[in-house]
This record gives sequence, C-alpha cells and structure tokens, in this order.
Amino acid sequence: MSESVGTQVGKRSSSITFLTIVTVLSLALAGAELLLAVHYRRQQVAAETEKVAENFQKFYYDSYVWQKMKWLGITSEQTPTDNWSMQEIIDEIRPDYIIEAGTFNGGTTLFYASVLSYVNPNGKVITIDVEPQVADASKWPLWKQRVELIVGSSVEPRVTDHIAQEVRDKTVLVTLDSLHTHDHVLKEMEIYSKLVTPGSYLVVQDTNLNGHPVLPQWGPGPMEAVQEFLRTHDNFVVDRGREKFLLTFYPGGWLKRVK
Ligand SMILES: C[S@@+](CC[C@H](N)C(=O)[O-])C[C@H]1O[C@@H](n2cnc3c(N)ncnc32)[C@H](O)[C@@H]1O
Repeated sequence: MSESVGTQVGKRSSSITFLTIVTVLSLALAGAELLLAVHYRRQQVAAETEKVAENFQKFYYDSYVWQKMKWLGITSEQTPTDNWSMQEIIDEIRPDYIIEAGTFNGGTTLFYASVLSYVNPNGKVITIDVEPQVADASKWPLWKQRVELIVGSSVEPRVTDHIAQEVRDKTVLVTLDSLHTHDHVLKEMEIYSKLVTPGSYLVVQDTNLNGHPVLPQWGPGPMEAVQEFLRTHDNFVVDRGREKFLLTFYPGGWLKRVK
C-alpha cells in the first residue's frame, strides 16, 4: 500500500529536523572543543611564561647587574622594571611622603624624589639607614630640597616615633629595603603599615630571596614576613598587577592597603 503524500511530507520534515539537530550539536561540540583547546593553550602559555620569567630572574640576579644600576649617576640597587612600577605608583598616589627603609647610596631615594617632584610640589622622601653612604647623592639640589635622611635603625622608637609624628594626616607610601631577615621585616611591616594611607602601598622588597626564586639558602626573609603579616592584616592585599613587567624582585611584595 502506497504512503499518502501527507505521510511522506511528515517523514521528510522529521528527517530534516533530525539533520538540523545533528548539525547544530556537531557545531556546538566543535565550538566547545575549540574553546577548551584555547583555554588549555592559554594555561600552557601562562605556565611557560612563568617558567621563563623565573629562569630569567635567576640569571639576572646571579649576574649582579642590579648592583650596577644608576640614577643620576648614583647606584640604585633595583631592577629597571621595579623602579618603573614604583614610578607608576608614585604618579597614581601622589604621596606627600615616601618612606624608604634602607638608603645605601641614595640612588633610589633620588629616583623617588625626582618622580615626586613632578607630581607633588610638596612631596618628600624620608629615608632611613644605619650606615648610609650618600656623599655623592646628597650633593644634588634635589636631595637638599626633598630628602630627609635619618641615620639609625628603621625599627628603633627614636626613629619611628619621629616619622609617625611627621607624616601624621599626610598621604604616605612606604617601601622596605633594609635588613632582609624575617624578624626585622615583620617588625618594620607592623610599624610602617600603620602609616600607609588607604589606597596606597606598603612595598616589601626582596621577597625573591630564600628560593622565591633566588638564593634558596637565605633562610626566612621578606617573603615569609609578608605571608605571616597577611594572616593577621586583612586591610592589605597583594597587588599582582604590579608584576606585569614579569621581572620583579618583589614577587608578592606589592601590598595595597584596601581599608
Ligand atoms: C639593600 S641596601 C638598600 C639599597 C637601596 N634601597 C637601593 O635601592 O639602592 C640595604 C641597606 O639597609 C641598611 N640597613 C641594614 N640594617 C638596617 C636597619 N636596621 N635599619 C635601617 N637600615 C638598615 C644597610 O646599611 C644598607 O645600606
């Protein structure tokens, strides 16, 4: 018995519907596979980038070229990328005071003072060192205008009380680069975190020590101090955005005060 025209049309339309569903599903599957592949490739690239950056940092650190970096002819023991990130922060925050623990030759102090001179006409750098060697740096007029050098330990009450008094109610940015032991850095963090203005930063330098990724034999240092500090201070968060140039000697050390 032959099928009616209506039945034939019905069969054809259901096979078209079936084909459409199969096609749509295949396309969706192919799309999902493509998205998954892109996702895994991105993850792979991120992991490879991290490895390359870590290896580069080890080579860079071991070359000790960072001891040869200068600003205005004065040694600034930094990486160009960390100073560049600091420059960006100084412009964003426009602090009245930058507190630097660990002056050494004062090249970095002069760098901060230079940037500050463009963004805050009254901005000053307070720099602290037990044994500063700033004979050359202090000859610059900029030093005389904008730098206050305090000779002493960054954690002794004579020094910290004076600074707390001076920066009261001002916009403050702090960077720690003195003695890189766990206990000393943690003590500094406890003291100076209170002076940091909300929205500004407490920068803990040399968190790369003790195998993060350089000098694995160092012992507990800045990174371990940061980890301990963050367990009890939820008003600070690590700003990984400051590590965008891939080379930083302060991994996980860019702490933003959020409240
Ligand atoms: C790594 S250097 C500082 C480098 C400098 N910030 C720069 O960017 O060129 C460390 C400095 O911290 C100083 N220092 C060591 N212990 C200190 C302490 N307890 N208080 C303040 N400064 C200290 C040392 O005398 C030394 O000059």
